[in-house]
Amino acid sequence: MAKNLTNKNLAILTSGGDASGMNAAIRTALRFAMHNGYEVYGVMHGYQGLVNDEIFKMEYKSVSNTVHTGGTILRTSRCLEFKDPEVQKKAAQNLINRGIENLIVIGGDGSFHGVEALHENTELNVIGIPGTIDNDMGYTDSTIGFDTACNTVIDAILKLRDTITSHDRIMILEVMGRDSGNIAINSAVAGGAEYVIVPEASPVDPVEIAKSVKKGYDVKGKTSTIILLAEGVNYLKDDLIKEISEATGRRVNHMALGYMQRGGNPTVADRVLAARMAQRAVELIMCGQSGRVVGIRGGDIYDTTVLEALRIPKEFDEKLYDLAKVISK
Ligand code: ADP
Ligand code: F6P
Repeated sequence: MAKNLTNKNLAILTSGGDASGMNAAIRTALRFAMHNGYEVYGVMHGYQGLVNDEIFKMEYKSVSNTVHTGGTILRTSRCLEFKDPEVQKKAAQNLINRGIENLIVIGGDGSFHGVEALHENTELNVIGIPGTIDNDMGYTDSTIGFDTACNTVIDAILKLRDTITSHDRIMILEVMGRDSGNIAINSAVAGGAEYVIVPEASPVDPVEIAKSVKKGYDVKGKTSTIILLAEGVNYLKDDLIKEISEATGRRVNHMALGYMQRGGNPTVADRVLAARMAQRAVELIMCGQSGRVVGIRGGDIYDTTVLEALRIPKEFDEKLYDLAKVISK
């Protein structure tokens, strides 16, 4: 929906879990908007900072030397009180009091609920950019930070392979993704993990996996085994350790890679994705659009309503999952 076209002040915030490439998105949004005659403001600490009026004017140089950095220079937060429409209105008023009527929000699906709420309940023009390592939003093929997180996982696989091979051990490597197995599946294919267990697939039987792991050593000549376990099914950890160690007689280690996956220099893919998405977000602001989010489909940047984006479930890539199961074990 188009609101006010004439206001030339734009604020940017990052919300939810940080993701590498958020700074590349902030940088492009700021510089492309300034190039088109906008004054740009940063909101610190996501929606919490919007509520607390942590708003400051940004300059062209505010984003110098940030394109390669992880985290978010605007900081982030999880702000539960922001679900309250009265809090949303108060927060929006902090921008309006400064004459700012345009806002770009970079975050995951939770943050997009905030985009929808601000769009519906206030006078702001609000556009969303998907920034989350989880890649769990159905309307877009990828999200900023996902590629970098997967690269961190495959680096971990490489290093863990050295030590488990040396000790004849087996490694269960738990990776993030909330309820999504996308980081696990993509990293398994790219990093050569022997097994991948994700919440979207039919339940696996730890006894069957244990038998298969044993066969890997006895019949296929494997010298190491890495199992990628998505955090959404990490309740299987203890059963897997028990069954596999009993079947193979080997020590089974478990390691949660954790917050390592959120940090570090963004990959080229994430930096370019961030730049392309931020450009489209500013273009939407320039057209007076609101309540829309930017995505990528088949390599093309596009935009849709935030309601539609939140409605579309993430399709499970069963073909890639089946391939992962076949090629490494
Ligand atoms: P992400 O955006 O990475 O999915 P969260 O789910 O934690 O992360 O959401 C980030 C923030 O978005 C929340 O802390 C809250 O401030 C805001 N948010 C989440 N759900 C809603 C909602 N239903 N209405 C308004 N704001 C919301
Ligand atoms: O959404 C990103 C993410 O890193 C998820 O993969 C993970 O489940 C969650 O955030 C962890 O959240 P927190 O930072 O609140 O511990």
